Amino acid sequence: MAQSDENAASGEPRPRSAGISYQELLDTDPYPVPEVLRLTSPRLLGNDDIPNDRYTSREWHEREVEHLWRRVWQFACREEQIPHVGSHVVYDIANLSFIVMRSAPGEIKAFYNACLHRGRQLKDHSGRCSEIRCPFHGFAWDLQGNLSDIPARWDFPHVDDAVFSLPEAKVGTWGGFVFINPDPDAGPLQEFLGDMPTHFERWNLQDRYIQGHVSKVIRANWKVAQEAFCESYHVGGTHPQALPYLGDINSQVDVWDTFARIITPGGTASPLLGWEPTEEEILRYMLDIRVDEENFVALGEGQTARAASAAAARERWRPVVGDGVDTWSDAEFIDNIDYTLFPNFHPWGAYNRIVYRFRPNGDDHRTCIMEVFLLAPFEGERPLPAKTTHLGPDDEWTAAPELGMLAKVFQQDSFNMPMVQKGLEQTAKPGVTLASYQESKVRWLHHLLGEWVEG
Ligand code: FES
Ligand SMILES: [Fe+2]
Repeated sequence: MAQSDENAASGEPRPRSAGISYQELLDTDPYPVPEVLRLTSPRLLGNDDIPNDRYTSREWHEREVEHLWRRVWQFACREEQIPHVGSHVVYDIANLSFIVMRSAPGEIKAFYNACLHRGRQLKDHSGRCSEIRCPFHGFAWDLQGNLSDIPARWDFPHVDDAVFSLPEAKVGTWGGFVFINPDPDAGPLQEFLGDMPTHFERWNLQDRYIQGHVSKVIRANWKVAQEAFCESYHVGGTHPQALPYLGDINSQVDVWDTFARIITPGGTASPLLGWEPTEEEILRYMLDIRVDEENFVALGEGQTARAASAAAARERWRPVVGDGVDTWSDAEFIDNIDYTLFPNFHPWGAYNRIVYRFRPNGDDHRTCIMEVFLLAPFEGERPLPAKTTHLGPDDEWTAAPELGMLAKVFQQDSFNMPMVQKGLEQTAKPGVTLASYQESKVRWLHHLLGEWVEG
């Protein structure tokens, strides 16, 4: 039976699945549910196909570089990756590269990564330095980007120090993330973020550290990879093991202006499952424990799988954040609350550790880099960020043990991606067809992309 609530943009009813809705599920939460989870903002943006050339054409990629990557606010690194004056991260996006530098205490700058003499890339790696000196002929700049040395200065009477500073991109920070924008006319980051910081007030991503960071090359356009993480409609086909405990097609999709989210409830069975699991079965599937295995956390009298697994998660957080965990709802521990800030930044909400980023692999539009950051809370002094694990296109996610069970799930997702790219190149159909509601976050991304790239 189809039910409906209202499409925020048009006031039209939106289609939805049979089964318990996310808001109805929240009504059963034994703890107070935060207001932010009570928001609903469905937005249906038509049902037109998305042209395949957005994924396959070189020309589209080049327009994307020109009109998107050169103009948009984008996540470059975490502040903790540049803790000291002189610490820097090399951030590459398509054919562009920036040195994101802690230029002074409390100040971050992003320099175009190219020498003003004959153009050599200034920094080949992230690290820490006391000046920016080009390895070719030795031109040097201080950490503010002011010219500080030209070997044999007498031969450059035509170089005016005052205008020979390193060109910069704009920099903004939020939640411990450093963003850059190459567009000198861009408005401030805070304006671009809109209400997103308000959504995250309670979850405070600032006071987390990089417990794990995995970066993998995938043979698919960056949007093919990204979109596999923007809907739960693929769970039945790609991750069928999750159907007993995931309300995949009962996900709630909310779209605001530059950000959106999809909330997929955990500890509740999919309407696609075809049989009705007991609460104990839901919990066994969630924890991946077979019926013949002993180490099973027994459900309390009348306890649901959601409550039991939230209680376990609450105890895992208690030693680090204290008894505040008793004010957090079950939903915040159990549900998959995946936010997206246009165009490619995906911090999960609530007390989940995941942040994704997707971007082209250098200037190649047929491969991309998918990154997973695990941001964990800490006690006392901030721990050092974990070293990045780099995986090539043929490496399996399971080669990154820091991902735990997630690695197997990502492996299932990655299995499809190169084949999606292949299919998009060889199909007779000129566009992809999206579900009206369940894939509305994908459509929203393309809607904005169209505005930015095609203007
Ligand atoms: S290219 Fe950098 S000093 Fe010559
Ligand atoms: Fe998936």
